[in-house]
Amino acid sequence: MAELSRTSADHLKRHIQSFVRREGRLTPAQKRALLTLWHVYGLGTEEEFDADQAFPRKAPVILEIGFGDGGNLAEMALSHPEFNFLGIEVHRPGIGHLLQALDKNRLSNVRVFCLDAVEVLKKLIRDHSLQRINIFFPDPWPKKRHHKRRLIQPDFVTLMAKKLLPGGILHLATDWPEYAQAMQDAIATCPQLHPIQASIVFPPRCITKYEIRGQRLGHVVTDLTYINHVDSCL
Ligand SMILES: C[S@@+](CC[C@H](N)C(=O)[O-])C[C@H]1O[C@@H](n2cnc3c(N)ncnc32)[C@H](O)[C@@H]1O
Repeated sequence: MAELSRTSADHLKRHIQSFVRREGRLTPAQKRALLTLWHVYGLGTEEEFDADQAFPRKAPVILEIGFGDGGNLAEMALSHPEFNFLGIEVHRPGIGHLLQALDKNRLSNVRVFCLDAVEVLKKLIRDHSLQRINIFFPDPWPKKRHHKRRLIQPDFVTLMAKKLLPGGILHLATDWPEYAQAMQDAIATCPQLHPIQASIVFPPRCITKYEIRGQRLGHVVTDLTYINHVDSCL
């Protein structure tokens, strides 16, 4: 009986998701890419992620969460074969789009999860295993009553810090000034993350699809970059 009540309580505690699953329309090419290339680039949910097994070459791992159509991820992976790249996205048309780019450029340094990033970080990524975490233009959820859906929250920041290597980098970008402030407030709750200048972060990010849309609307972009000093929290 106690076991039963605990299970239902755990079920109720399921976290509020930062996305709404809108499948959208898969183009025939995206559908084909998902069918024929997922076995090459896609990762499953069964086992903890092991970079040495997943990539043909040993290299520091850069994670991008919510990569959208994968433009930045493919570009960075193409320009920087000295890194391995891991992407997490829930939007299948975007994943299909990325797989097409990876195949076209014969890239072997990218692997992808099609899952909620919160679950992946909690269950499938080892502590102190990532060189960098990138989150570019996460959904701003502008209405106050939706702020709880924002991905960047204190608990998630602490989780990300735990996954970074000592000296690892957290790089966020947003074109929503109020979210930029909320991100800084959330990160301030984790004293092991220290701000650094975005211009010294290597490799640099590329302009993303969502950023181009923001630029058209006259939005100002804020990049937030932090280095992980392990000894202060956790
Ligand atoms: C506003 S879009 C930005 C896409 C891309 N980074 C860009 O700048 O063009 C945010 C993306 O994050 C993804 N996303 C939101 N929450 C997520 C989560 N918990 N796990 C994985 N992906 C998520 C959404 O599906 C969406 O594609």
